[in-house]
Amino acid sequence: MTETKLDLQDIQGNVIKAYPRHGLPKGRYLFYQIDDGEAGRQFLQELCPHITTSAPWGSKAARNAPPKYTINIAFTYDGLKHLGLPQATLQSFPEEFAMGMRGRSGILGDDGPSAPARWDPIWTREGQVHVFIAINAADESQLETATRVVQRLARQSGAGVVLIRGHRGDGDADDLPFQDVSALYDDQGRPNAKEHFGYTDGISNPYFKGIMTDSSNVVGGGKVTGGDIETEAGWEPLETGEFLLGYQDEAFEWPEAPQPPVFAANGTFLVYRKLHENVGSFDRYLQTVGQQYPGGPEELAAKLAGRWRNGAPITTFRTQSEADGFAAEWEHAKAAIASATTVEEREAAKRRFSALNRKFSAFDYTKDIAGGGCPVGAHVRRSHPRSGLEFNVDKAFQRPDALSNRRRLLRRGLPYGRSDGRRRDEDNHGIIFMSLGASIRRQFEFVQQQWINYGNDFRLGNDKDPLAGNHGLADSPEGAGRAVIEGDPDRKAPPFFCANLPRFVETRGGDYFFVPSMTALRMIADGDVDPT
Ligand code: HEM
Repeated sequence: MTETKLDLQDIQGNVIKAYPRHGLPKGRYLFYQIDDGEAGRQFLQELCPHITTSAPWGSKAARNAPPKYTINIAFTYDGLKHLGLPQATLQSFPEEFAMGMRGRSGILGDDGPSAPARWDPIWTREGQVHVFIAINAADESQLETATRVVQRLARQSGAGVVLIRGHRGDGDADDLPFQDVSALYDDQGRPNAKEHFGYTDGISNPYFKGIMTDSSNVVGGGKVTGGDIETEAGWEPLETGEFLLGYQDEAFEWPEAPQPPVFAANGTFLVYRKLHENVGSFDRYLQTVGQQYPGGPEELAAKLAGRWRNGAPITTFRTQSEADGFAAEWEHAKAAIASATTVEEREAAKRRFSALNRKFSAFDYTKDIAGGGCPVGAHVRRSHPRSGLEFNVDKAFQRPDALSNRRRLLRRGLPYGRSDGRRRDEDNHGIIFMSLGASIRRQFEFVQQQWINYGNDFRLGNDKDPLAGNHGLADSPEGAGRAVIEGDPDRKAPPFFCANLPRFVETRGGDYFFVPSMTALRMIADGDVDPT
């Protein structure tokens, strides 16, 4: 296998790094309209030196400290048009990107309470969002500093670069200038990886050639080789072209990309989606249906997601006591690193911790094809079926997970809204879901349409993802979704049928963006994109 070396200085930092896991738990998203191409290009020229790239930080070799904040940029199709890209380049973008999320709402299942007419005001007017600037920061004050930097540059560029307001917030607020996001915090004031339903999120992410993060992340992040699933022998990195334009993908093709090639290379596409979480309905459902479910509310929560709320995969840890025992062991192993008094002790503690940490990711569904552990329709199994889709079809595919490898999503994003313990649907809380990949249509849209909102690939008919599906609204306020929790013969547990699932997640807006490489950003800023 030849090693893929990526030009990390040319790739924006949010492609390679999930910032909240690097000490940057706060975020602010700003959206601009470009009324005047000249002013817009000037804005970009000024902004270029402030954009965070994927160049490593915090390593001895790199000799640079982790930043206090990061700034990244992306464009809608309309944005690129207003910035003066030539027609031939615009036409070479994939159609779904040109149509934007609103234009694709039909296939995304954005109906009823998720319909575009009900999105946050910023997203209800078509074509006004042109530039997306994402800031991540260590704390509120760094967030303010970075915001001032961006806003000053926008103002200096003249009246042609306009910040678009219109994000909903607490109470009646519906004209906020920014979308603020933040990790949730535990009782001791430490940021954690929870989202508002109480699950640990951001565990699983694709690992691809050249990504340069810890190679042990290939376990669970790469593709299944057929070897021992619990070790690196069972996994291989995915092809770079699944996540970055200009590289070979899993089909050994170069992904469809805008022209010229130098403009596309090291760029990618980003899906931004504001997803409201009906936490009141979720809690009520767990309490009421959880009383009838033999495993109780907490196991029901785990069966709907495919992971226990502490993150332990249910296909591996079948009971709550196993999951709790694992979590306690993990905490203990983590604490042992800090309390080690000698280098040897510390190294041994680190090895122990890393072996345990791997258990969060080292699984597929080949030993759980029938869903007795992780239900076939659980959220994580639908959104990344690993090798669980082939249903014992022997040698039908070259690889056990061939069907999923072309549908992987590089997830970024953070929760937004209140987390003060008041758990009502009508309050303001959810996640800003962001997913990066070389093809919005083949990756995000397929997962959203076929796997989240439809069940046929899993032999589940019309059943949708219990957590994120757009369950139809029945006359009754409880909703109309269904989900099957397959029986577990090992535990002599009979199947259980979840009825009247309400829509736990509603779309509140978003769009499709192109994330340029630094080279492409400079080309846009200089007005010299030449497709010929
Ligand atoms: C509010 C809505 C959502 C919530 C609360 C949610 C929650 C979660 C949780 C708790 C996990 C497990 C943690 C992890 O593996 O990182 C997860 C994983 C995942 N989710 Fe979601 N999710 C939501 C929406 C979506 C949507 C809309 C998609 C795709 C269109 C999606 C795709 C994924 C993927 C690909 C994984 C990783 C699965 C794996 O690799 O095993 N999620 N989500």
